[in-house]
Amino acid sequence: MPVVRVTQDSIHEAATLLKGGGVVAFPTETVYGLGCDTFNTQAIQQVYTMKGRPTNNPLIAHVADQVWAKKVSQGWDTHCDRLAEKFWPGPLTIVLPKNKIIPDEATGGHETIAVRCPRHVAAVSLLQDFGHPISAPSANKSGRTSPTSAQHVEDDFGRELFVLDGGSCDQGIESTVLSMVDEPTVLRLGSIGLDAISRVVGDVALSTSSTQTDSPGSTRKHYATNTTLILLSSEEIERGLPRNTVCLTIIANPPNAWRVIEMPSEAPLYAKRLYAAMREADTLGADTICLEQPPAGAEWEAVHDRIRRAASS
Ligand code: TXA
Ligand code: MG
Repeated sequence: MPVVRVTQDSIHEAATLLKGGGVVAFPTETVYGLGCDTFNTQAIQQVYTMKGRPTNNPLIAHVADQVWAKKVSQGWDTHCDRLAEKFWPGPLTIVLPKNKIIPDEATGGHETIAVRCPRHVAAVSLLQDFGHPISAPSANKSGRTSPTSAQHVEDDFGRELFVLDGGSCDQGIESTVLSMVDEPTVLRLGSIGLDAISRVVGDVALSTSSTQTDSPGSTRKHYATNTTLILLSSEEIERGLPRNTVCLTIIANPPNAWRVIEMPSEAPLYAKRLYAAMREADTLGADTICLEQPPAGAEWEAVHDRIRRAASS
C-alpha cells in the first residue's frame, strides 16, 4: 500500500483500515506513529511483530481528548487536569494505572497505561474519524531512530504499509513521558522539560533507572545508526576526525571531515532535524558518524538524552 498525502479521504481510508483491524502509520507533531486499535489485541500483536518490539515494552494510547484519557486510565486527578490543560494537545505522555477495559496486550502486560493527545492535525482528524484510542509506538523498527517523515517510515517497513504523509514532523523527537502513578517522574525527556512540568505539578523527578520495568523504551540501546556514532566536542573535532567520518556540525570547522552535514544552532530546530540527519549520514557509507556535542542548557536536555543513547548503542 502506498504513502498517501493527508486529505479527508485518506484519513477516512486510514480510519477504515484501523476499524478492520489493520495497522497504519500516521504523522504526529513529534514523530510518525505505527497505529492500531487499542482494543484489538490481534492488531496490537501485529504492531509488535512488525516493529520487532519486545512484547513487554508498552505502547502509548493516543486519544482525541481528555474524556478518552480518563476512560482508559484510573486516578486522573486535578494535577492531570492541569497538565492536560497546559500541554494537550501536544508532546506530553501521561502514565497512570490502566483501566480494566484496556487489554493487557496494549500495555505490554503492565498495570499502567501511557496516554497522549497529539497535536498534529492529521493525528487529530484520524482519532476523530476512528472514534477510539489508537495505540502507536514510533513507526520505526525496534532500536532504530524514530521516523520524522513518511519516507523514513517507508524505508523501515516498505510499501506494504499504509502511511499518511503529513510532511516533516515539527518537533522531531519523541514526547516527554511523565509518570503520575506515584510522585511525578519523567521517564523520558522530550521538548516539554522538567521546569515546565514542575510549574504545573510541583516537584518532579527524572528517572535515572533505565531498567526494563520502568519504561522499557528508555534503555540505553536505542536510536541506533548502523554506522558507529561518536560524540565529540567542537575542540576535539577541530583537532581532527577519524578517517571517512561524516560530521554533523553546529559551529565546529572540521579540518578533515569526509562529509559535513550542517546542523541548526537552535535547540528546537536541531531536534526537528536530528533523526533525518542521522538517517542521511547512515546512508553515505562512512566508517564513522560524528556528532558535535551541542551546548549545555535546559532547552537542549532532550537532544542530549537522545544523542547519548545513539552514541552508546
Ligand atoms: O512522541 C511519541 O511519544 C511517539 C508518537 C508516535 O506519539 N511515540 C513513541 O512511542 O515514541 P514509543 O513506543 O516509541 O515510545 C514510548 C515510550 C517507550 O519508552 C515506552 O517504554 C514508554 O513510552 N511507555 C509506554 N507505556 C508506558 C507505561 N505504561 N509505563 C511506562 N512507560 C511506558
Ligand atoms: Mg520508539
